[in-house]
Amino acid sequence: MKHLTSDQLRTMYLEFFREKGHAVIPSSSLIPENDPTVLFTTAGMHPLVPYLLGEKHPEGKRLVDVQKCIRTGDIDDVGDASHCTFFEMLGNWSLGDYFKKDAIAFSYEFLTSEKYLALPKDILYFTCFAGDENAPRDNESAEYWMSHGVDKSHIFFLDKKHNWWGPAGTTGPCGPDTEMFIDTGKEPCGENCDPSCSCGKYLEIWNDVFMQYNKNAEGQFEPLSQQNVDTGMGLDRTIATLQGKRSVYDTDVFEKIIGKIEELSGKRYASADDEDLKSFRIIADHIRCASFILGDPRGVTPSNVDQGYVLRRLIRRAIRYGLKMGIAEGSLKDIASAVIEQYKSAYPELIDNENRILDELDKEEQRFQRTIRQGLKEFDKLTQRLENKKIDGQAAFHLYDTFGFPLEFTLELAKEKGYSVDEAGFNAAFEQHQKVSAAGAEQRFKGGLADTSEVTAKLHTATHLMHDALGKVLGSEVNQMGSNITPERLRFDFGFERKLTDEELKRVEDIVNEAIAKKIPITIEEMSVADAKAQGAVGIFDDKYGNIVKVYTMGTYSKEICGGPHASNTGDLGHFVIQKEQSSSAGVRRIKAVLIDE
Ligand code: ALA
Repeated sequence: MKHLTSDQLRTMYLEFFREKGHAVIPSSSLIPENDPTVLFTTAGMHPLVPYLLGEKHPEGKRLVDVQKCIRTGDIDDVGDASHCTFFEMLGNWSLGDYFKKDAIAFSYEFLTSEKYLALPKDILYFTCFAGDENAPRDNESAEYWMSHGVDKSHIFFLDKKHNWWGPAGTTGPCGPDTEMFIDTGKEPCGENCDPSCSCGKYLEIWNDVFMQYNKNAEGQFEPLSQQNVDTGMGLDRTIATLQGKRSVYDTDVFEKIIGKIEELSGKRYASADDEDLKSFRIIADHIRCASFILGDPRGVTPSNVDQGYVLRRLIRRAIRYGLKMGIAEGSLKDIASAVIEQYKSAYPELIDNENRILDELDKEEQRFQRTIRQGLKEFDKLTQRLENKKIDGQAAFHLYDTFGFPLEFTLELAKEKGYSVDEAGFNAAFEQHQKVSAAGAEQRFKGGLADTSEVTAKLHTATHLMHDALGKVLGSEVNQMGSNITPERLRFDFGFERKLTDEELKRVEDIVNEAIAKKIPITIEEMSVADAKAQGAVGIFDDKYGNIVKVYTMGTYSKEICGGPHASNTGDLGHFVIQKEQSSSAGVRRIKAVLIDE
């Protein structure tokens, strides 16, 4: 087993697959483009969905990348040895090219070859799909593993819960998978201990998904027109395993970040008690994740909705745990600087957006301090009203919901002042609130990608036309800072110092509607970034693309490097109306606009 650093593993993985004919593509943004069904990119396959469904990728049929991902479903588990909200996923892709045989051969070579991970063969275990009414038992994968010398006793067949991946949302590409595990050498937890068991004896390090089905809105699994391979190896977890560490937080990945928290708190990570250990990890995870969200090319800032809300929650949780550790106000930016230092060579956008990351963390810290002060006043008012020394669940929930006052704060304060809190009542109120939010989230998923794609494609085309019109009206220095599309509206952020006048907004609308009235066919060409620039194409998120890019042209109006999708003719759009123009953050304006059927 080799002792690799995270930078070494990243490079080794990309190089291995480059040698096997894969094009190295950069990580996509953490904010999914034109996918209103999820808030963040949750897996390497997510930005590649159109290509898994059959669209041609400009870089070819074999790709490899390291994708930035965020999953916040387990946020409450962060603090243990393995959970993180942000992670990097190493992945190799076949888009209708190789399938099980080569995918398994590549995986086995990378895991065992002396030149690569050099893992001892006898500690490797594998799982394959056992089969059900949707897809047959995957004997084929098992046979390929055995063809490399894997003993039958190291292969387990498991059900859909364990050996099936996807779709990422409710509909989309998915399929059976084969997973690779390392036996840590721990004693089995019982007679039935196998790789499906979470006791910690077997650690999953890689997953090869054979994406050959599309789950449709009716829940049926339709065969895809092409057979794909989607693989995922979590960088942090693999590093922890290779370095023989008890936790991802004990690896080189977190060394600088935890080191900074030690400096700021005056505490030692290595000798921390359970409570401090949890705080160290939560702060490190949350500030890493927040720095990547703020540093993303499609920068998001803290707010009360969508990605901005998740960001706010991460920052505020980090502040709370920082307070517990005795970290002074205004220190978050120092921790973020350590994050930037750790990742700047792999993710140069963190350097490009360093000011935004540090400023926004500072501002959010100040806002939260104000909230805490208000919450304290509210707490005092509440206790003055009480006849007995009991704070009921609804009141505790009100402090949480309206004043962002976490239950832990309420509990601590209450204890200090000799009050008790009805925690069960709080949990009931909280669950009720979660149910309401979950219903909202479900609503977001309804329809899925396929059903909303036509509407979002039109709004996406309108976004390009509006970007062009803004340049014409305000000057070519108008730069896109972010774009977000839901089935209802487009939202566009751009760098500009002042409020737009009504007349300017009207001119922007008129130019877009003029382009619509001309019914211009939209053309797509593939070319190198250099050619695209030479033709005057606007390149917005350069780091997101490989060398060959798609350029969408809308007559003499817009020419942009973009991944699509778009309407095929500007005449399909209907009537364009700007609904709102406002400030988004310092030096950034935000426009919301809609398309109305005519
Ligand atoms: N899409 C697969 C995963 O996320 C590889 O595990």
